[in-house]
Amino acid sequence: MTERTIALVTGANKGIGYEIAAGLGALGWSIGVGARDDQRRIAAVEKLRAAGIDAFAVPLDVTDDASATAAARLIDERAGRLDVLVNNAAIAGDMPQEPTRIDPATIHTVVDTNVIGVIRVTNAMLPLLRRSAAPRIVNMSSSVGSLTRQSGPAAEQTAGPVSAAYAPSKTFLNAVTLQYARELSGTNILINTGCPGYVATDLNGFRGVRTPEQGAAIAIELATLPDDGPTGRFFDDAGVVPW
Ligand SMILES: NC(=O)c1ccc[n+]([C@@H]2O[C@H](COP(=O)([O-])OP(=O)(O)OC[C@H]3O[C@@H](n4cnc5c(N)ncnc54)[C@H](OP(=O)(O)O)[C@@H]3O)[C@@H](O)[C@H]2O)c1
Repeated sequence: MTERTIALVTGANKGIGYEIAAGLGALGWSIGVGARDDQRRIAAVEKLRAAGIDAFAVPLDVTDDASATAAARLIDERAGRLDVLVNNAAIAGDMPQEPTRIDPATIHTVVDTNVIGVIRVTNAMLPLLRRSAAPRIVNMSSSVGSLTRQSGPAAEQTAGPVSAAYAPSKTFLNAVTLQYARELSGTNILINTGCPGYVATDLNGFRGVRTPEQGAAIAIELATLPDDGPTGRFFDDAGVVPW
């Protein structure tokens, strides 16, 4: 069994996920690059390796049970355990998303990726995480999933566009993360959600104002929490985000 810390980052082929992989790899960790597309996965692994990072490819479509199971088997055969899981993969979904106009199929697709995908991958990886001395799970959420920010006096500034799919999927993800934390309390597994801020990526047509590297910072912080660190909380770079 390898001594290096082993991490899996889902959706690591581009955007914030790629930078999370690069940032954790720079710590000397071994990084599984979870990605569904063969070419994009290979390109990301090659780029990370060229930067001196111990990256390996993990074929993974988070909407597919068999793919998640196969990914866990691959990591088991390579490392025998998993120390850190970063559930980063997500989609924005087709527009429009106003609740009065949305196609229900859009909600299904977004929830299947952004929420059930996280549960699917987490549960596939849990047996490997339980073999780690310090397991950490980081779920990439968004402040638009904060009901406080959707409804508070500053909602116009902080809530993003009206959405019945993407924003509620992050609310759902936050709620599920809290339930995991409750169930796993008393174990050494710490599970939290993080918001990267508004980052220029494909997800928002590169309209974000932060760099993917800046967006990755909160995931790296939550992936490297000490043993007495928080669990079942929601953070961004400024600290705790209200549910
Ligand atoms: N960008 C922002 O301003 C912002 C703000 C708040 C939260 N976030 C969150 O940050 C995370 C990263 O977003 P990003 O901005 O970096 O988006 P992005 O550039 O669009 O990257 C999303 C990643 O998820 C992958 N993905 C999507 N569906 C997948 C599936 N079924 N299986 C496996 N991988 C899948 C994509 O792979 P493909 O290349 O194959 O599509 C891609 O690697 C997401 O959770 C997002 O909700 C982003």
